[in-house]
Order: sequence, then structure tokens, then C-alpha cells
Amino acid sequence: MALVAKLVYEHAGIVIREHKEAMARGRLARRVKVLGLGSIAEYCAYLRTASAADEIPELINAVTTNHTAFFRERHHFDHLRKDVLPRLIQERSGRRGRIRIWSAACSSGEEPYSAAAISRDVIGNRSDLDFKILATDIDTDILDRAAAGQYPTDQFDRLPADLRPLLKLEGQNGRGEARIAEELKRLIAFKRLNLIENWPMKGPFDVIFCRNVFIYFDTPTKAAILDRYVALLQPGGFLYLGHSESLPQPHPQLRLIGRTIYERTP
Ligand SMILES: C[S@@+](CC[C@H](N)C(=O)[O-])C[C@H]1O[C@@H](n2cnc3c(N)ncnc32)[C@H](O)[C@@H]1O
Repeated sequence: MALVAKLVYEHAGIVIREHKEAMARGRLARRVKVLGLGSIAEYCAYLRTASAADEIPELINAVTTNHTAFFRERHHFDHLRKDVLPRLIQERSGRRGRIRIWSAACSSGEEPYSAAAISRDVIGNRSDLDFKILATDIDTDILDRAAAGQYPTDQFDRLPADLRPLLKLEGQNGRGEARIAEELKRLIAFKRLNLIENWPMKGPFDVIFCRNVFIYFDTPTKAAILDRYVALLQPGGFLYLGHSESLPQPHPQLRLIGRTIYERTP
């Protein structure tokens, strides 16, 4: 497993801690089977061959933890609704002013669709704003699921009654799934992006969701990513972290203003 851990750290920044090794082995079992190999040891031998370069994305897809949910950590979406969007609409409407949100580890899409649902509800149909969400993840398999925007209906059944209608679900298919409406989908661009590699976008962003991914990184990785978030955030823009996450160290341009909500200072 040492080789797997080394490759996953080098290519994704993810630290496989000792107590998570069994879980990682379990996740790799599927790759072992797909490749027709007999064991993790054989898989590691395969990773040492010339074919390894093509296997790395599959390895990363296999080990990532994609757990997520619609309106997870609701207080961020309440903040977006009450404190962020009304101010941005006031500042930017009339001139097709840009409003940009980035979901930086979007997994299967529940996070950006939740942000789109709230934003659509607040902004409505107005055409005097240029509103978009960028949703990125390293895992190509999960991004395909996100872009499809199709989920088992029981995921929606559990949602609070005031939030569920905002997702504007469309026709249930025979497999017990419902689809997020086109009008929300078109607000979002799904792209593959590795947080530890170069980022092509210039920003600025008004809000960055970076939730439940820092937990997999070590302190230097988190600090480097954080500096780059600050550079892409509008002054007065917001960074949302996950419930068990905090800044690796205080940042001179980030001020904690609420539960895991940081504001970029001028
Ligand atoms: C637990 S999910 C979090 C999903 C969502 N942000 C939330 O809080 O519900 C973590 C996501 O981070 C992604 N991830 C892990 N390492 C990454 C990296 N280096 N670059 C981009 N995404 C990464 C994983 O693929 C996974 O989808």
C-alpha cells in the first residue's frame, strides 16, 4: 500500500492515513477485479509498469471519498440566500454584472445544484445579471454523475419541505430517479480540476465552496490552496469550509464571520 499512498499523495494531495488503509484497499478491490488481477500486491506491481500513467486517474477515482448531500450544512445556503445574494444583486444588477460561485470539490453535484437552487430562487428570471457556477472535482466518474443531474428520489424525500421544491425536479424515470431541471443545470459548468495542479480560471469569485476536501490534505497543501483561493476571491467574497475544517493557519486576508464562513478582507 505504500506505493498507492505515495501515488495518491503525489497526484491528488490526498493523505491516506494508517487507519484509512483498510478502506482504501476495499475501494481498490474493484480496480483489481476490472483489470483481471488477483490481489492488491499484483495491482501495485502493475502500477510500477509503463501502463501506470493511464491507471493513475482510475486509481484516484477509486480512492476518493465522494460522500455529499443536497443542502448539506444548511447554514451556508442560508448565508448565501440572506447575506450574500441580496447584496450582490443590489451592487451588480442593471449592467449584466457578473456573479460567480465556485464549488471546488463538487463530487456528484449536490452542492452546486443546491447553490443553483437557492440562487435561482433569490435572483429569479432577471436578465440584468450574469450568474454562473463553476463546479469542479478531480474524480472524472463522479463528475459524469454530477453533469447528468439524476438522483434516486429518496435523496429528495429526506429534504426539508421548504428546500425540496427549489430543485425543480423533473420526471421520474423507471429506476426511481428524478432529474434536476434544465433551468438549474444551465447555470452550472462542470469541469475536471485537480486542486493541487494549475487552475486555468482567472476569477474573481464571490463565493467559494471548499467543503469536506481539506480533511484529506496535509497542512502545506491546504495552505497553498488557501492562498490561491484568496487570490481568486473578490474582496468581500466568502469562503465556506466543511463542518470539521478550519484554516491551516490564520490568514491575513480571511476573517471568520460565522460557522466555517470566512470573508476575504480588502
Ligand atoms: C467528501 S466529497 C465533498 C463533496 C462536497 N464538497 C460536500 O461537502 O458535500 C470530497 C470530494 O473532493 C474531491 N477531491 C479529492 N481530492 C481532490 C483534489 N486534489 N482536487 C479536486 N477534488 C478533489 C473528491 O473527488 C470528492 O468528490
